[in-house]
Amino acid sequence: MRYTAADLRVFTRDEASRFVPRGDGDPQNDVPLAWELLYRLEPELYDRLASAERLHPEIVGWLPRGLDQIAEVGAGTGRLTMELIGRGQRVVAVEPALPLRRILQRKLAAAGHADQVQVIGGFFDALPLPDDFADLVVACSAFTPSPGHGGEDGLAEMERVCRPSGCVAIIWPNHLAWLADRGYRYVSFPGPMSVTFGSHHEAVELAEIFYPKAAGEVRRRGSRTVPFEVLGINPPRDLAFKVLAG
Ligand SMILES: C[S@@+](CC[C@H](N)C(=O)[O-])C[C@H]1O[C@@H](n2cnc3c(N)ncnc32)[C@H](O)[C@@H]1O
Repeated sequence: MRYTAADLRVFTRDEASRFVPRGDGDPQNDVPLAWELLYRLEPELYDRLASAERLHPEIVGWLPRGLDQIAEVGAGTGRLTMELIGRGQRVVAVEPALPLRRILQRKLAAAGHADQVQVIGGFFDALPLPDDFADLVVACSAFTPSPGHGGEDGLAEMERVCRPSGCVAIIWPNHLAWLADRGYRYVSFPGPMSVTFGSHHEAVELAEIFYPKAAGEVRRRGSRTVPFEVLGINPPRDLAFKVLAG
């Protein structure tokens, strides 16, 4: 792992209260904590990885369209956000990490969509949005049952800001039973899926950092396209959702 306990000083007080609640985290042994450091210390590196790991196209196709407001939580550098534009009149992207918000704002401006998406700071467990705000409240590769990354309070917040008859969706969920216990249904889309890096050189470089056990195989294959199985991760092909009572 690239980071040490000395790097924890990058967190704001609000971030530290969620990611190192006892004040003494060790990113060498705590993978979620190391990811939080990545977002703040090397956001462009993170963006190169997320840009290569594209979502199954049917995920976006499944989401409701013709909406008024959409709220996305944990928007990162906009892998899903860019796809939400056009499905609603307006999108609010909530993202705690300032360096990721800056990249997202830069991408939106470059694509001419800065007016359609409001990018704001915030956390799952204290969303800076009013009750019944959005028709769709969605998180992609961001929500977990752990309190620092959502938890009971975070799910309750997503449902609070969702309008009656609206939809709360957790894309690429990693704790299906936990969500099912809370009334969430599951959809998965079939088919082979690969990570598409910018070049074979980049595939090897990023595999060495993020998937070191697979790096040799990535090098041997000689391609910029790497099946998710080779990297040893579940592809982003699924979602859990709940339609709130009307
Ligand atoms: C793996 S990234 C996914 C980003 C983006 N949704 C995507 O799919 O590319 C996880 C994101 O969750 C955000 N996150 C972590 N803890 C959070 C919290 N407590 N509340 C809101 N977002 C959080 C991170 O800052 C990061 O942007």
